[in-house]
Formats: sequence, C-alpha cells, structure tokens
Amino acid sequence: MFRLNQNETPLFDALREYVNRNTIPFHVPGHKNGIGMDTEFKNFIGENPFKIDVTVFKLVDSLHHPTGPIKKAQELAADAYGSKAAFFSIHGTSGAIQAMILSVVNSGDKIIIPRNVHKSVTGGIILSGAVPVYMQPQFDKNVGIAHGVTPETVKKTLEENPDAKAVLIINPTYYGVATDIRKIADIVHSYNIPLIVDEAHGPHLSFTDKLPLSAIQAGADMCAQSTHKIIGALTQCSLLHVNSDRVDVNRVQQVLNMMQTTSPSYILMASLDCARRQIALHGNDLLNKTIELANYARKEINNIPGLYCFGKEILNKPGAYAFDPTKITVTCRDLGITGYDLDMILSNEYHIQVELSDLYNVLAVGSFGDTKENIDALINALREISDKYYGKGNKKSDFIDIPEIPEQIQIPREAFNSINTPVPLIESVGMISGEFLMAYPPGIPVLCPGEKITQEIVDYVQKLKDTGLYVQGTEDPEVEFIKVVKQEDAVFINVE
Ligand SMILES: Cc1ncc(COP(=O)(O)O)c(C=O)c1O
Repeated sequence: MFRLNQNETPLFDALREYVNRNTIPFHVPGHKNGIGMDTEFKNFIGENPFKIDVTVFKLVDSLHHPTGPIKKAQELAADAYGSKAAFFSIHGTSGAIQAMILSVVNSGDKIIIPRNVHKSVTGGIILSGAVPVYMQPQFDKNVGIAHGVTPETVKKTLEENPDAKAVLIINPTYYGVATDIRKIADIVHSYNIPLIVDEAHGPHLSFTDKLPLSAIQAGADMCAQSTHKIIGALTQCSLLHVNSDRVDVNRVQQVLNMMQTTSPSYILMASLDCARRQIALHGNDLLNKTIELANYARKEINNIPGLYCFGKEILNKPGAYAFDPTKITVTCRDLGITGYDLDMILSNEYHIQVELSDLYNVLAVGSFGDTKENIDALINALREISDKYYGKGNKKSDFIDIPEIPEQIQIPREAFNSINTPVPLIESVGMISGEFLMAYPPGIPVLCPGEKITQEIVDYVQKLKDTGLYVQGTEDPEVEFIKVVKQEDAVFINVE
C-alpha cells in the first residue's frame, strides 16, 4: 500500500490557507483575487477560482524549486503511483514527453521510437537533435488502427542499433490497446538503457487489476501520463514519473525548468493534487464502475446492426497484449458511413461529442465522469443512426499495406531548419521530404521530414486516393504537391 497519507492535499491546503488569511494581494496575476476581472467571465466561472489563482511565493511554493507544498504534493504523487519521483507538468503530456526525451538523449544520439508517435515526440526529437530510429507498430486491418510495437520488433531494432541511448514506446494506444511492456522493459534493460513511455492514456492503469499493466509496474524508467485526460485533473495537467537510477532526477528537474513557464497555474496544480488523492483513495471503485458501464455500452453497441465495438477478442495478436475496456471504439465500416460522418452526426444531431474519429471509427472515452444516462444516450443515438444508414451505403475500402519506412537522409532537426519548396508529388521521387505525409487508416506517417521519397510511396498515395482512403499532412490538402528540402540549402548528417 502507500507509504504516505494519501488523504493529504498539501498544495490545495496551502492555497486555502492563503485565502483564509485574507491576504492583501500586491502580486500578479493582476486581477487580484478576481477584483479586476471582467464581470461576465467572473459571473460565469464563479469567484473561487480567482482566489487561488496566485503566483510563486513561499506559502504556495515554486514548481521550479519546490521545497514546500509542491514538493510534498509531488512526493504524494510518486507514492500513489509507486515511482521514485514524480513531477507536475502543466504543459500536458506533450511537455512531459519532450522533457523525458531531453533528459535521456543529446544531439546526435539515437533514440528508438514507434512510427506512430504523437507529434510531441517529434517535437522532442527536433529540440534535442537526436536521431530517431523507427519501429513499425502492428496494424489491425479490420478496425484500421495501429497497435503497439512487439517485443520482437524492439529486440531486432536494438540488435541493429546497439548504440541507441533510449527506447520510447506508447502504453496503451489512444484506443486502449497495450503491448507486452514488461517483456519490452526487460529487453531494453539488457542494453542498460532507459525505456521511456508515453502513457498519455494510462494515468489510471495502476489503480485496478482489471486494466493493462502500467509503465511503472512493468519497470519502465520514465513515463508521462495525461492525468487531465482520464482522471480528474484539469486540462494541461500531467505527471512525469522517474522510476530508476538510469535517469538523473536532477537533470529532469533542470529540463522541466527550462521548458515550463515560470508562472504555472496554481488552479491547475491544485486540481492535480486533488485528482491524485481521488485516484489513490477511490480509484479502484471508481474504475470498476467505469469499466462496468463501458462494458455495458460495448455489449449493447455490438447488438446494433452495422456497428462493432471491439473488446478483448482483439488480443493475443502481435502488439495487442492487453486492453483497457474504458475505451469505447465504435467501428462503423459496415454502416457505410465514415467515422468522420458518425462524429458529425452525433455532434450535430444528438449533441454527443466523441473524443476522435478516423475513417472507420469513432472513439468514446470512458471515465469515472460517465453516467448510465449518458451511456444510454450514446447507445440510443447509435441505434437511431443505424436504423437510418444500415444497408444503404457501401462498406469503406480495406486498409492498404503501407510502404517500407524510407531512408532517413536528414534528422528531424535539420529537416525542420531546412528551406522547403513545393514540387508535384509525382516528380518528387528521390527528393527529401520537408513534410509529413500521413496515411489514414491507420493514421501513421508514410513520410517524415528528412526522409527520401520513393516511387513506392508516390504509387501508394495514388492508390489510397483511387480507393477513397485518406492521405494528409502536406500543406497542399489535395496532396498533389509536396514540400521538399531545397538541396543546395540542406545540411546532411551521417545517419549510420
Ligand atoms: C499518445 C499521445 N501522447 C501524447 C499526447 C499529448 O498529451 P497532452 O494533450 O496531455 O499534451 C497525446 C494527446 O492526445 C496522445 O494521444
């Protein structure tokens, strides 16, 4: 169990102490406890948030040099999650991921990453000047999504790149599918390098045994979790955990100090302090109810003609080792409409907003904010939509195998700093891409900036278009043109 008293909320308490003292504010923010705030906004929000919207001073501590309540709040977070140290990020998991990358690799170092990473990983690689070595994830053609990378892929990539300085993986994916992270941690550690984990969609995993293993439980060295996505923290709040001596905690603090604002929101940080208390004390019950509701939704949706909501049956395939049932992915291929269409119908006609949509699916995120009433509203809307569309449209085309990962000529930092010019895609073979080119499904880059454009890729784009599938990412929405690196301005490195 926990070492510390998880009932405590030191930062929230310090802020209330500040309010109870009736402190006279001669500090920023300039609204001064809300007195100077626009009235309509204040009336809408209510007065209390302004009272705790303060800045750095002794009573409430400093995020950059914590010695008081923020230090204690972070220690409580580490205790709740079982990590060695936890840091609050008020730049979301995006900021935490960039900090993780900058903590473990320097310019020119190799870092092994899946091809389907979030753009913050690319940002971290550009900032660090590291050399990405890509691993292809596994694909599920039926539902058109990318899962995790397999332990075998990690092993092979490390054998080919024994000089890599770190490996990054995603646990679990947006759609709630997790790879065998424990096995991957063992493989990575056999090279004595850190495994860092994008756990944006996993801040709840360790609080019930009905969910996939968390990065920390699996022995990963660092992870970043969007506590604002799944558990009760306000938007922008994430946690960065350090879990081993392979990572220098002081370096992580230094990097975070370099990247984060010197004026972090105390409202946000207090919400994180309280969300940690909630998940630590009540997570098991709350999550079990959430899982029950999501499983009820899954069962009902699977009885609706034209719709499919995957569950554990998609497991035991490469890259799909464990499943988070709170994720409700509704596949509407057999309904003859796209996930984008379904998203718009739900939003415009039923005022139900899903988290995301792709060509084949919409994703409804489950959390302990769900109610039976809201779940029933979603099910009923889906029934009505099925009545209207089932049997009338055409099933969307099958996913097309994506080409080999092309040769990397420039690292992302150099490609980012290069001057790019548009050329017709069909004339671009052999040139260096200055842009991303993404294939949907499964929403994965076919080309990243700095990579050599091949005939296979140009043909593939044409094939996607001919089949009615999507290709996006270039500045030209029609993907007739692609920006390529102006060769005379390009700086090249030797990527071995
Ligand atoms: C897999 C993954 N990683 C990282 C992020 C970034 O998280 P945040 O929005 O907290 O910055 C996201 C956001 O959706 C994500 O899906």
